Amino acid sequence: MNNETSASGGVVVAVRGGVVDIRFDAHLPPIYSLLHAREGKIAIEVLSQLDAHRVRGIALTTTEGLARGNPVEDTGGQLKVPVGKGILSRMFDVFGNPIDRQAAPSDVQWRNVHRAPPPLARRSTKSEIFETGIKVIDVLVPLERGGKGGLFGGAGVGKTVLLTEMIHNMIEHQKGISLFCGIGERCREGEELYRDMKAAGVLPNMVMVFGQMNEPPGSRLRVGLTALTMAEYFRDDEHRDVLLLIDNIFRFIQAGMEVSGLLGQMPSRLGYQPTMGTELSGLEERIANTDTGAITSIQAVYVPADDMTDPAAVHVFSHLSTSIVLSRKRAGEGLYPAVDLLQSSSKMATPGIVGERHYLLAQKIRETLATYENLKDIIAMLGLEQLAPEDRQVVNRARRLERFLTQPFFATEQFSGIKGKLVSLKDSIDGCERILRDEFKDYPESALYMIGAIDEAKAKTQAAKPAAKAEPGSKPGAKADLKPATDDKPGAKVGPKPATDAKPGAKDAPKPATDAKPDAKDAPKPAADSKPEAKAAPKPATDSKPEANAAPKPATDDKPDAKDASKHATDSKPDAKSDPKPATDSEPDAKDASKHATDSKPDAKPDPKPAGDSQPEAKPQPQAKSDAKPARAPEPEVDHAAAGAHES
Ligand SMILES: Nc1ncnc2c1ncn2[C@@H]1O[C@H](COP(=O)(O)OP(=O)(O)OP(=O)(O)O)[C@@H](O)[C@H]1O
Ligand SMILES: [Mg+2]
Repeated sequence: MNNETSASGGVVVAVRGGVVDIRFDAHLPPIYSLLHAREGKIAIEVLSQLDAHRVRGIALTTTEGLARGNPVEDTGGQLKVPVGKGILSRMFDVFGNPIDRQAAPSDVQWRNVHRAPPPLARRSTKSEIFETGIKVIDVLVPLERGGKGGLFGGAGVGKTVLLTEMIHNMIEHQKGISLFCGIGERCREGEELYRDMKAAGVLPNMVMVFGQMNEPPGSRLRVGLTALTMAEYFRDDEHRDVLLLIDNIFRFIQAGMEVSGLLGQMPSRLGYQPTMGTELSGLEERIANTDTGAITSIQAVYVPADDMTDPAAVHVFSHLSTSIVLSRKRAGEGLYPAVDLLQSSSKMATPGIVGERHYLLAQKIRETLATYENLKDIIAMLGLEQLAPEDRQVVNRARRLERFLTQPFFATEQFSGIKGKLVSLKDSIDGCERILRDEFKDYPESALYMIGAIDEAKAKTQAAKPAAKAEPGSKPGAKADLKPATDDKPGAKVGPKPATDAKPGAKDAPKPATDAKPDAKDAPKPAADSKPEAKAAPKPATDSKPEANAAPKPATDDKPDAKDASKHATDSKPDAKSDPKPATDSEPDAKDASKHATDSKPDAKPDPKPAGDSQPEAKPQPQAKSDAKPARAPEPEVDHAAAGAHES
């Protein structure tokens, strides 16, 4: 075995996974030196000096084939990547090698990836908003131009979709350069993004760097620095603004954790590396604004197990000017983008930056949503009717706001079937203000769901009206058209769950009866309340016909029927049936009310798509045109249903 080492060479003395110990007799390479083994096929970065002759390094490539005694060459420098105009529209790996199957870029300089952040004196301090065209973000958690924004969320809540949407919305107006850095995520996503950007024609001002989940930890740990070095070139040398998108910064921390483990360091809390804070700030601090150019960064942050107190998430939080937290609950309800408005925050949301009007509006929205959140428990236990009228109003506004703040995305056009919408800040603010002024209190909640500017709600409602009118008028036809009738019966027979709610009632007089009765019983008092149902009756009518034959104006009939338990069952069913659409509206309540769950489920089930909670709303969209709109009247019903259930 060759134990002799040349002037710049060493020999491998140990290989443990990605960690390699190397002995140098003549000299000891400094930290961050790049070493090559097996004719440059294996790259190793020195991370520590064990003693006067040995260093420990982490491999940036796989260590396959590397053995004890293999010669190692010290390159005499650090990891370098290409920078310059030539890298535009290209895709690279951590070493700056092109991975888009084109020739290596010419006309580039090579720079070390390990660099210091700009000194404080060179940093710029102006604060300006970065508009995204996404309502909920622009109004409540505005991003800072030249700041850092984070999209926090557990697995599959929509971080990548939101990030892609932002790229789509901003890249065309963005005069500077966009740099996308994929760290430890799916390779497929990188490939899809590349194709999308190419198709959109924005590639000429974009650079992509990937160290995805198939790469060894050393590569994932350094790929962020590669991207930053390129971004710094455009900021410092070309004086351009750079938009740096990172998906996913948690994977950077995770790679550090793996490396730390391989190096044999003592783990810190939850197994994270003891140096996590230092490593992260080494990266984040370099994302800074100077007087000549700015790097605006948006980073997706995976939150393990949806636990916001996870040390990785907590550390990232502290670096950001805007934290957008995505919640699984909202995603489950179909309220995309699933931003948790009460947990998200932006330091830009101050009157000095966004202006008095915008600031007060944001405060008012938060207040409304927070009150609704607090009332949810009471609604679940006592029902909406038990709330004071002003609280009911708040709930009404909050639910409309929540829906208005959803938005169809360009990024999800293919699978949601709804065209993406870009909404200006002015339109977003205007819409929220009008909802808070109760201008839309008579509109069904579904009219505000997945729209762009607020005026679309009117158009949506008007489009729905003709359909709604047609229904009552042509009841017979209505039956045929309306699934309720058909659904109910089939449901009763076939569908186990729906059965319980809808027909079960008819057949299983006892239980359903009880459920339904609440409404019926309440009828006397809530008479006023029950009216909504009466209105909805048109449909029930159809439903009731089969059993009651009462046909035309069952609305009135329903109440009288209420007396006969058996009838109630039938009557109440109609209500339940009429809900199919209302389901959308009622669903929220259903969720709130744990008990209601049973009642609400029926409604939810009618929908073919059992998405769970989200179904109600998710469905509405597709159905929206056919069913949802007619259902408009239902809102009140929903409440009733919920209320009735509660009381029962
Ligand atoms: N705005 C949206 N509209 C409709 N569906 C959405 C939206 N956002 C997310 N989704 C749904 O959620 C799924 C997961 O989204 P995404 O891939 O963005 O999650 P993620 O948070 O990046 O997950 P991971 O942590 O696994 O990378 C999407 O495939 C889509 O079905
Ligand atoms: Mg993702």
